[in-house]
Amino acid sequence: MDADLRILLVVWILSTMGASPELASEVTVPLVPVDAVEGRSVKFPCDVSSPNHADKVYMVFWFKDDSGVPLYSFDVRGMPLDQAHHYSAPDVLGERAKFQTDTEPACLDVNEVQWNDKGVYRCRVDFRNSATKSFRYNLSVIKSIRGKRLWTKIENDVVHYIIVFDGVWAIRRFEIPLYA
Ligand SMILES: *[C@@H]1O[C@H](CO)[C@@H](O)[C@H](O)[C@H]1NC(C)=O
Repeated sequence: MDADLRILLVVWILSTMGASPELASEVTVPLVPVDAVEGRSVKFPCDVSSPNHADKVYMVFWFKDDSGVPLYSFDVRGMPLDQAHHYSAPDVLGERAKFQTDTEPACLDVNEVQWNDKGVYRCRVDFRNSATKSFRYNLSVIKSIRGKRLWTKIENDVVHYIIVFDGVWAIRRFEIPLYA
């Protein structure tokens, strides 16, 4: 099947599902898998730098799963970056989330990750003039470490584990920053 036909097919499938044209463009944003351990923290990078130096970030929204209501918004309109207005929906991440713009790239930091936090997170960056940018993450939450540790390695301040979880015949490999 050629590429144009495939794109048409995807657009057609989405339109039959009643999705908006905006969602159709989201399909092209890669979904990055992220693992977090329950009770620990996790970071979702979201680069707010503009492709055009004269342009500036305007608003940043975070969405979860199919919800059209942002769980986090970062409003820079008419303000310097460090005075932007932050809002985190209390029924989703609430005070556990903070959008940090003093890091490169900017990140949504989520503390005390809970089991129900798993799902797909999308960051949408709106600029004054440039095209909107999006990033997507699929967060898997790993129950805190109670399994049998098979292998550990520390590299660049990151602990790598392979663990067999209690009662689960699966081996998961994940990485925890030493100073998280
Ligand atoms: C997200 O990851 C989980 C666990 O690996 C997987 O079961 C699920 O299908 C993924 N979601 C999407 C939308 O790809």
